[in-house]
This record gives sequence, C-alpha cells and structure tokens, in this order.
Amino acid sequence: FPVVVLISGSGSNLQALIDQSLQGQLDIDIKAVISNKASAYGLERASQAGIANHALDHKQFESRELFDQALMSLIDQYQPKLVVLAGFMRILTEEFTRHYEGRMLNIHPSLLPKYKGLNTHQRAIDAGESEHGVSVHFVTSELDAGSVVLQASTEINENDTADSLAQKVHALEHIIYPLSVKWFSSGRLKLESGQAMLDGQP
Ligand code: GRF
Repeated sequence: FPVVVLISGSGSNLQALIDQSLQGQLDIDIKAVISNKASAYGLERASQAGIANHALDHKQFESRELFDQALMSLIDQYQPKLVVLAGFMRILTEEFTRHYEGRMLNIHPSLLPKYKGLNTHQRAIDAGESEHGVSVHFVTSELDAGSVVLQASTEINENDTADSLAQKVHALEHIIYPLSVKWFSSGRLKLESGQAMLDGQP
C-alpha cells in the first residue's frame, strides 16, 4: 500500500510507521519521505531505512501556491494511496488539500476541537485542563479541522510542564498514528461526505 510521509522535524512518528511496517504489523510501503526543511532529522531516519527522501525548501518558492504545486508533483511521482502528515509544519493551500481529499491524514497534539494551531501543551496547562491528548484526523482546507479518526488522552498532573506533557503525548502518537494508517490501508477507514467512517460507522 503506497504511502508518502511529509515531515518538518524529528520524525518520531515516521519512525513508528517504519518500525511497525518492518515488524510486519503494518502493511504499507513508504515510497518517500519529504521535508520542507533540509535539516529535519526524519530525513536521516528515512535514509537509514532505505526510503527515498527529499528536502523541498519552501523558502525557494515565491508563494505558498507555487510551493504546494511543486510538492504535489513530487508526491504524485510516487503515486501514493495515502499521504501522511507527520509533524509537517506548513499551512496547506486549498488546491493541495482538495487534491488529496479523503487520502491525507494528520496528527495533531491536542484533543481536537480544542487547541488547534501551535503550543498546544502549554496552552492546555495554562487553561488548567486536567486532560490533554492527541488526535488523528483527515485533512481538510481548514487548519486542524477535518473529521477526527482517533484520539488518545492523558492526565495533566500538577507538576507537568509542556515538555513532560509533550513526551507523554508522543508516546500516545506512536500508538494511534500507525493504527489509523493500518485502518486506512486495510480499507476499514474512509472519508465519506466529510465524515471519518470506520467499518461503515461514524
Ligand atoms: C507531533 O507532536 C505531532 O503531533 C505534531 O508534530 C509533532 C511531530 O513529531 N503534528 P515527530 O516529528 O513525529 O517526532
């Protein structure tokens, strides 16, 4: 099942996908990893796993539209059935999101619809939340607003910091993202009229 993964940073979620597919728990073929930052450690992880990888620097493009068009044509060379955003820190154009509608997932470190955008861990602490977590969702043109596939939550304790919370959330990410991808690749998960459906149920 051909997949392309987009990253901007460490790529620990990418690593979780690589590991699970090597262990035979996830039946996907990661065709390529693409980063908008050449320094992203995830590119190194891809190389080590023998996966084609590219840095496509958004700063080399005059507009968001031109960058997204170049990114689309690079992705489409690999003919993926699923595009996985794994810490890809770019806002996408509507042209891009429409092109991959129903076949692009993102992972966002909050219990959506709470805390869209950045600095989610600190914001959850500052708001005095007792619970925080992570969501996998289909990508639509509105930022972090597509239909949620799966969420996992963790308690916020008195002595939690943004860093300690990020660590706890990351551990959950590495479980729920491969699982969501597995559901999609096995045909159990679909987007129907904007709604994530698992085995035909919302
Ligand atoms: C994760 O926290 C993910 O939820 C967010 O970006 C981070 C990526 O981490 N979208 P990594 O690069 O996979 O380690």
